[in-house]
Amino acid sequence: MRFDIITVLPQLLDSPFAHSILQRAQKKGLCEIVVHNLRDYADNKHKSVDDYPYGGGSGMVMQVAPFAACIEQLQAQRSYDEIIFMTPDGDTLNQTIANHLSTKANLIILCGHYKGIDQRIRDIYVTRELSIGDYVLSGGELPAAVLVDAVVRLLPGVLSDETSALSDSFQGGLLDAPVYTRPADWNGHKVPDVLLSGNQAAINQWRDEQAIARTKSRRPDLLDD
Ligand code: ADE
Repeated sequence: MRFDIITVLPQLLDSPFAHSILQRAQKKGLCEIVVHNLRDYADNKHKSVDDYPYGGGSGMVMQVAPFAACIEQLQAQRSYDEIIFMTPDGDTLNQTIANHLSTKANLIILCGHYKGIDQRIRDIYVTRELSIGDYVLSGGELPAAVLVDAVVRLLPGVLSDETSALSDSFQGGLLDAPVYTRPADWNGHKVPDVLLSGNQAAINQWRDEQAIARTKSRRPDLLDD
């Protein structure tokens, strides 16, 4: 699977993809993450990619031409399943959307800045708009990193069996049961007996009950449908 991310701040995305699971997934050839500097597609010598909003108002607006040039250059090389714009007014990302996107081959992700991007980019090129939650960040880079992480860990071969995404919170529509490791007694705070019992059927039942109880108390909305 390939991700092409278009941004004015490529350095912001150096670290998130250079460690741990995302780094390993790229090294194993399971995914390719390519970050493009939007300024490379500016058509002026100052490399500016934004301008004042028509009609007045505060903040600058990102222009159509640089995005168009970058997207069209990419589309000339391969076809893309989706062109995603990260924006607080998009659909809220959830596990169902991540699962769906993990079945795709090529995605473009656009990161906005300043006051927003010219609506014509959204009208002409963007096929999907995603938010990572009801709060406003300074740009779409961190949201893009969140999206890529959520999708890449679902790709076959990225996680080992023990850490399989199948047991993640949300994946079965429930939150995870609590987990414990050694020591079994820490300053009088004990691990639940059942986890030390060696009775796998009882452990599985306890985990199921805990998952349901946690979901009921913390996220009853997940049990609605
Ligand atoms: N850009 C700024 N805030 C955002 C958010 N919450 N989700 C996605 N993109 C954003």
